[in-house]
Amino acid sequence: MMMIFAVASNVVPQAIGEPPPVIDLRSIDTVDKMVELGGEIFGSEAEPGRGKCPMCHRRIGGRAPVLDGVTNRAATRIKDPRYKGHAKTGIEYIEESEECPSCFVVAGFGKPGTNDAVSPMPVTVNPPIYLSAIERDSVIAFFQDRDGNDVTVKPITDPEKDLRWDKEKYKYSFKGLKPKG
Ligand code: HEC
Repeated sequence: MMMIFAVASNVVPQAIGEPPPVIDLRSIDTVDKMVELGGEIFGSEAEPGRGKCPMCHRRIGGRAPVLDGVTNRAATRIKDPRYKGHAKTGIEYIEESEECPSCFVVAGFGKPGTNDAVSPMPVTVNPPIYLSAIERDSVIAFFQDRDGNDVTVKPITDPEKDLRWDKEKYKYSFKGLKPKG
C-alpha cells in the first residue's frame, strides 16, 4: 500500500487532461468565497483538488517546498540574489510562482541537470491545470487564511472588467460565463 502511494504521488499531473468543472466565477465576490474556492482548488494530500498542488507540495516536504507559511516567507524570496523575476511583493511572488514557476526556482528543487534553472512545477495557467487569475488568487487567499494572515488578494467586484483578460485566454474557466445584462 505504501509503495503504491509513493508511486502515485510522483506522477506529474500532465496526464490529467479533463477540463475543470465550470463554475460561475462572477460569484467570487468576497474574500471568504475566495478562501473557500482556493481550498477546493488546492484540496488535500488524500484528495488533491484541480490545482494538484498537494501531489507535490506535501506538508512533510519532499520533492517540493512546504507551502504552510508561504505567505510569511514569500517576501524573502525576492531578496534572494538569484531572484530575477518581476515580483515586488511576497504576494506578487506567489502569483508569479503559479504563472511562471521557472521565474525563480527554489534552490535544490529544479529539474535534475538544469542547475535550478528550470522548475518541475507545471505552469498553472496552462492546461491541464488551467487556473484563471481569480482562481489563482483564490489559492493565495486560502494560503493567507491558513497562515493566519489577513486576505489581501481582491475578489471580483466588476465581472466585466475583472474577468475580461482571462475570458479571452483561459476559456475552460470561463465556459460558463455569459455577457452581463
Ligand atoms: C509537479 C509538482 C508540482 C505541482 C503539481 C505544483 N507545484 Fe508548486 N512547486 C513545485 C516545485 C518542485 C517547486 C520548487 C521549484 C520552484 O521554485 O519552482 C514549487 C514551487 C512553488 C512555489 C514557491 C514556493 C517557495 O517556497 O518559494 C509556490 C508558491 C508554489 N509552488 C505553489 C503551487 C501551487 C499553488 C500549486 C497548485 C496550483 C502548485 N504549486 C503545484 C512543484 C509542484
